[in-house]
Formats: sequence, structure tokens, C-alpha cells
Amino acid sequence: MGMRFAQHVGFFSSLCYDSTYFWSDLVSSGICVTTALPYANGDLHLGHILEQIQADIWCRFLKLCGKKVLFAGGDDAHGTAIMLSAEKKGVTPESWVEDIWQRHRADIVDFGVDMDVFYTTRSPENKALVEGIYRQLEDNGSIVKKSVEQAYDLEAGMFLPDRFIRGTCPKCSAPDQYGDHCERCGAYYLPTELKDPYSVISKSTPVSRTSEHVFFQLSRKADMLSQWIEGAHLQDAVSNKIQEWLHNDDGLQDWDISRDAPYFGFQIPGYQDKYFYVWMDAPVGYMAAVQKYDQDHDTDFFKPIFSQQSDWELVHFIGKDLVNFHGVFWPTVLLSSGYRPPSALHVHGFITINGEKMSKSKGTFITARDYLNALSPEYLRYYFACKLSDSIVDIDLNWQDFVSRCNADLVGKVINIGSRTASFIHKYFSGRLSGELDDESPYSLFIGKLDQIKSLYREKKFHLVTRDLMQLADLANQYVDSKKPWQMIKQDGREHEVQIVCTTAMHLFWILAVYLQPIIPDTSAKISKVLYRDIQSFDDVKIMFLGQEIDAFSRILERITLDMCPQS
Ligand code: MSP
Ligand code: ZN
Repeated sequence: MGMRFAQHVGFFSSLCYDSTYFWSDLVSSGICVTTALPYANGDLHLGHILEQIQADIWCRFLKLCGKKVLFAGGDDAHGTAIMLSAEKKGVTPESWVEDIWQRHRADIVDFGVDMDVFYTTRSPENKALVEGIYRQLEDNGSIVKKSVEQAYDLEAGMFLPDRFIRGTCPKCSAPDQYGDHCERCGAYYLPTELKDPYSVISKSTPVSRTSEHVFFQLSRKADMLSQWIEGAHLQDAVSNKIQEWLHNDDGLQDWDISRDAPYFGFQIPGYQDKYFYVWMDAPVGYMAAVQKYDQDHDTDFFKPIFSQQSDWELVHFIGKDLVNFHGVFWPTVLLSSGYRPPSALHVHGFITINGEKMSKSKGTFITARDYLNALSPEYLRYYFACKLSDSIVDIDLNWQDFVSRCNADLVGKVINIGSRTASFIHKYFSGRLSGELDDESPYSLFIGKLDQIKSLYREKKFHLVTRDLMQLADLANQYVDSKKPWQMIKQDGREHEVQIVCTTAMHLFWILAVYLQPIIPDTSAKISKVLYRDIQSFDDVKIMFLGQEIDAFSRILERITLDMCPQS
């Protein structure tokens, strides 16, 4: 592989996102893309799917541009919550996370997400990587040990994470609040400040106990972190947030990376009863997934992607709740243990359904499978694309709007171009296209959009991609409307003109199928089948089908109605 940006100093500046620059393909050898690893503690819901679809569109786009892309993900299998869920079900945590992993993987595949590897943090690769990172951190003095006073549940025989303690808010006296946060008055406090605290697990009153904990010395990584922020590709809101943490009065605090037994996770080398905190090994799971890919495919991506000399981009797609872990801990852990940091974080907002947070009690909590049982993923992929931008604002899924948009745009605009003209080709010209195109058509305008569409995709402004493409679809339909082939065909001697108009429309149809491929791959594949041609690259927009035969036009995408939409 090329080592053009081998020096570490030059590395960050090489990741500038000037559109002409990155199209020259000099920036990186490849792009490793990840989505956050969902907790193996329940089914995936539409919020998870939003992120998978967003990343998938971007990866498919890059692949269509001929970029080398490795799209990696998997499950986050560790932590107290997962341990307790398994206990409740009466199964081992191993079999619990294995079962959920199967379900998660099936959901992702069935949504058409073209992930290269879906692995799990509960893997030998991840264990070895975390231990290696820990040794590096120990060797270079990034680890300190401190004694920590923490709530302990005598009945359950375990230390209680903040979320497993509840009690009365010390500020406003609201009963039954979280250990660290009051939902009524919004106050944040320490679990030790709670009034009448009780353990969620045994309902008993916790006592205070001390134990030694292992800390990553984040307090000494401020300069490292500022330097990373300078060079990484971050949305403004995200880099502002990280700067805020960096410059607040207390500065960066050392990070507790250990948890006492019982815990479901990896043991910390040198201890009998201490485990790595789930958030220590979770992002390392990205690296483990790449190793797994290498093993399964006999490739060698790990070193080129994660070594300090890497000239690959490393891009993490995450929700806005994960900025701290991916924008503070993760880059400093990587840089402190001899690896390269992420080159970009792409942060998205949360999904709301009909304007509200997804909620099980309100019946708006929709799992990935609920949706798949109701409708084709193509609709949701398109709808999310219409809403996804490079901003971190929340994204609303309104079912009425969803139905109208899918019907109006996909069926009414896109599919309509092909369905009305392909039938003429079959009925009057035995399925054969004409040998020329109409030069009074928007054909060259369609082709001329290529660079713009590509930069919008690259910048992850999918809402503008769909907006522009629907404008093109409107133009195509207006073109056919203005020519009125259904009238022309009744006039003697104008058959050839009709064939040219319909042939031109079929070419416009093809171009839209190529442009839309990252968003609705299944629909694009069906369209391309009509023209007996696979879509392999964005440059395929320029392919001509003059004089060629086309296949019968089968139903590609149906109109939908509100009552077809998923219910939880
Ligand atoms: N296990 C951690 C991530 C570890 S990454 C090394 C985790 N898991 S999660 O299941 O809670 O979330 C997985 C991803 O889904 C996160 O990026 C999160 O922001 C995203 N979402 C979870 N709920 C969401 C919505 N309601 N809407 C959009 N995205 C949401 O955090
Ligand atoms: Zn309160």
C-alpha cells in the first residue's frame, strides 16, 4: 500500500475534506467505517437502524466510487445490565449474547446493510487487543490506581453501578430518582448524595465500600486531545462539545476503567476479581472486527488501518449520546497505546416517532423486525435518506409523511418514468430501444449532475441528494408529458419519434437508478435488470443502451398505505 502520508504530522492535514482534493483519490488508501456496537441486550429498534442505514448509504456510495471500503460492526456484549438480563432469563451471559448477536445480524442483513463484518466484543481477538492496549498504557505510565468508595449491595454481593441505585433527589426531594440524575428537576449528583438510597437489584439499602480501581490518566492527555480535535473531521457541534469538556473548570478527569466482580467482561491482567469496564473494550471491538475480517478472508487490513502510519481514514458513525466515549476516551486511548486515532466522527441525532421519543408504553417503540414484517426496507431507507444530513438534530419519523413521501417520490416520480415508457417499447417496438436519443431532452443535464451528487453523498448530505434527484425525476416526467407519446402513437408516421422519446426516458430512468443505488439498492437492482445491466460504478450513468432489447417491466415498488406501516 502507498505510504504517502506516512509521517504522523502530515497525517491529519491530509484528511481535509475539500471536495476536489478528496476526489483526486490521493487522500487515503481506503476508508474503514464503523457503526456503534449495539448492546447485546434486546432487539434492535428503528433508532439503531437509522445509524446502520446512514453508514450503509455512505459505504455503498464510496464503493460505487471505486474506493476501498471496510465496513465493520458488531455487538457490544459486556456489562452489568447484560449480566443481570441473562441471570433473569436463567441462561449464561455467553448464550444470551450469542442469541442476540444472531438476531442483530439478521436484522442488519435484512435491512440491506452491506456490512463487511459483524462481530462481537465477546471474542478472543478483542480480549487479546484490550490486554495489549492495557499493557501499553501501563508501560508508558498512563495507568494509575486509586481507591474508590462505592455503593455496595450486601444482599446481591456486588458493587452497584449508578444506574442500579435509586432514591430521593437531594435537590428537590422527588422520590425514586436515578442514582446520578433527577428526572424531575434535572439535577446531577453523586449516588452517595441520594436520600433513602436503595438497590434496584435487591431493594436493600446499599452500604459504602472501598476498593482499588484502575484509572486511565486522562487528566494528562489534554494536549493530545486538543491536537486530535484540530486534525479530525468533526461537525462543529461535536468539536464544540469536546472543547467544552476539555476546557471546563475541572479539566479532564482520570477515567475509571475497572469494575469489581461479579461482572461480565474481560478480567484485567494481574487481578483476580477486576474486570475491564465495558466501555474500555467496546470500541476495541471495532479493531477486533477488522481482525476477524482478515482471518475470514485471508486479507491484511488490520495493520494498514490501525497502525500509527496508517493512511486509511477511520470513520465512526455514532449517535449524539456517544460523543464523550468516541471523542475523548477513544482517541486518547488509541494514541496512548501506539495506534492511530479516528479521522472522523459522524454524529447523528435521535429518532423520534410522530414527534415523540420512542416509547414502549405509547406503542411507538418499533423494533427492526416489526418494520421488516410490515414493509420493504427500501421505503425506510429512502425516507431516512430524505431526513439525514450532516447535522446532529433529531430526526422525526412521521408515518403519514413517510407514506406520502414514498408514494409521491419513489412510485409517483421515479418508477413512473420507467413504467409508462417501457410498456410502449414492448407494445410497439417488440422490446427494442431506438438507436438514438432525443437531444431536446434533459439527458446531458442528468449526466452533468454526477459531480454534484457525488460531493453531496461524500458530505453525507443525503437530504440534498434526494432533493436533487427528485428534481431530476420531475424533469424526466415533464419531458415525457411534453412529448405525449400516447398521442403521438396515434398519428401516422410518428412511431419512430415515440420510440426515441421512450428510449430517452429509459436512459433517464437508468441514470436515476445509478444515482439512487446507495439509498435503495434493491430497487436500483430491479431497474437495472430491465436493462440487462448491473450497476457497478457511478460512471455507469454514462452507459448507453441504444438499439438494445429490454426486459419486461415487472412491478418494482408498490404504493403503500398508512395501515401497512408497522405497529409495535
Ligand atoms: N454499546 C454502546 C456503543 C458502543 S460503541 C463502541 C451503545 N449501544 S446502544 O445500543 O445503546 O446504541 C447503539 C447506537 O444506536 C448508538 O450510536 C446510539 O446513539 C444509537 N441509538 C440508540 N437509540 C437511538 C435512537 N433512538 N435514535 C437514533 N440512534 C439511537 O451505546
Ligand atoms: Zn430533583
